Amino acid sequence: MDKFIINGGKSLCGEVEITSAKNAYLPILAGCILSKKPILLHKCPKYNDVINMLKILKSLGAKITPQTNDGKLHNSCDILVDCSQLSVHTIPHELASVLRSSIFMLGSILGRFKKARVAYPGGCEIGARPIDLHIKGLKNLNVEISDKHGILSCEGKNMKGGVVNLDFPSVGATENIMLAAVLTKGTTKIFNAAKEPEIVDLANFLNTLGAKISGAGTSDIIIEGVSELNGCEYTPIPDRIIAGTYLIAGLICGGDITIRGFIPQHNQVLLEKLKDVNSKMEICGDTLHLVSNGYHNCISKIETSPYPGFPTDLQAQILALQTIGKGTSIIIENLFETRFKHVPELVKMGAQITVKDRTAIVNGVEKLYGASVNATDLRGGVSLVLAGLVAEGYTTVNNVFHIDRGYYQLENDLSKLGADIKRIKNN
Ligand code: EPZ
Repeated sequence: MDKFIINGGKSLCGEVEITSAKNAYLPILAGCILSKKPILLHKCPKYNDVINMLKILKSLGAKITPQTNDGKLHNSCDILVDCSQLSVHTIPHELASVLRSSIFMLGSILGRFKKARVAYPGGCEIGARPIDLHIKGLKNLNVEISDKHGILSCEGKNMKGGVVNLDFPSVGATENIMLAAVLTKGTTKIFNAAKEPEIVDLANFLNTLGAKISGAGTSDIIIEGVSELNGCEYTPIPDRIIAGTYLIAGLICGGDITIRGFIPQHNQVLLEKLKDVNSKMEICGDTLHLVSNGYHNCISKIETSPYPGFPTDLQAQILALQTIGKGTSIIIENLFETRFKHVPELVKMGAQITVKDRTAIVNGVEKLYGASVNATDLRGGVSLVLAGLVAEGYTTVNNVFHIDRGYYQLENDLSKLGADIKRIKNN
């Protein structure tokens, strides 16, 4: 398995362009199943989760044509998705178990075929990742679901619009129910829906296909079922988590960086939390310019919560920033029960962190020291890279396949900004 070798202590300087949002592209690819007409998607990011989602689409009978000279998928190229010949309504374990977002396929396969057989999804080691809210929501659309030996067998011949009150504003459950409702006769109402920008992007994409969805971005979403969808051309939003990651990288390393594709409205809480950190931040449209000297006061308290709260997907990265600084920071992770696996690895590098249940207490130190550390999940892995960039000496980050799920060649982008980081391939 590949690893990164980082020689820390370099400041960052230059420009980085944020690629499309993983957590927008994945449900949008699932949404393509609902249309029998060609769909042109721009800026397809070559994250491994997206590559695996394209594999699932192809296994169902979809035709994916990269719009490139050599016909190969290149990072941020356009792709033509043709689901006109879809014939399969099942996703086997070996494909579904590779990533969490295979579960979104359930709603779209049901929407298209009114039946589905999907194995339980996979995903990161950040928590149990139950799907009870997905199942409860689909049952409210009159789907009969049997759950045996890790396979969900769904009968949707009597599907009709319904009312879904989500116990928790689950991103995936909101998306799954939306996808199932688009081609289902009647009106579907989702209350206590997730409000993330990726939900809005999915609704905008589906409406561009001819769906009738209103209220996305609020707690109450209404979907009027339609009989069929058209094709379209669509550009998903940039990845707010990657954008936030680079902002934090600029702060932890110090330097002068420009981030293109940084949509401030998508990262309001992060910007709010960082306003007292001694740096100069200028935002013009979707471009953020940061000048920082790399040493900061700790942020006293950070608590993750559903959008528009502090994003759980930036918890590991901002925790890494807190390890170097003056003072103490309290970080509470409310979304996932085991999302502090990066802490013991950061402690190996000299960080002073104690964890009790869902709370991490970080006492800022002057310096971190290079060590050999192990990535355990996507965002936790990135936090180890950020720590390595500022640590004295060499850091080896093992198991970077976790990071490749949601960042494309992170080492190249960081090297272009002046970091000393190399990938050691280990097939
Ligand atoms: C999405 O996961 C994202 N993944 C996650 O990003 C993100 O951390 C999460 O939303 C929260 O923002 C994708 O979009 C592919 P949830 P999802 O359903 O949909 C509980 C990354 O790093 N829950 O909002 O799985 C669940 O246990 C990934 O890019 C149930 O109890 O998240 C958790 O505590 C990591 N029952 C909470 O809700 C359910 O049926 C939030 O989960 C579903 C969820």
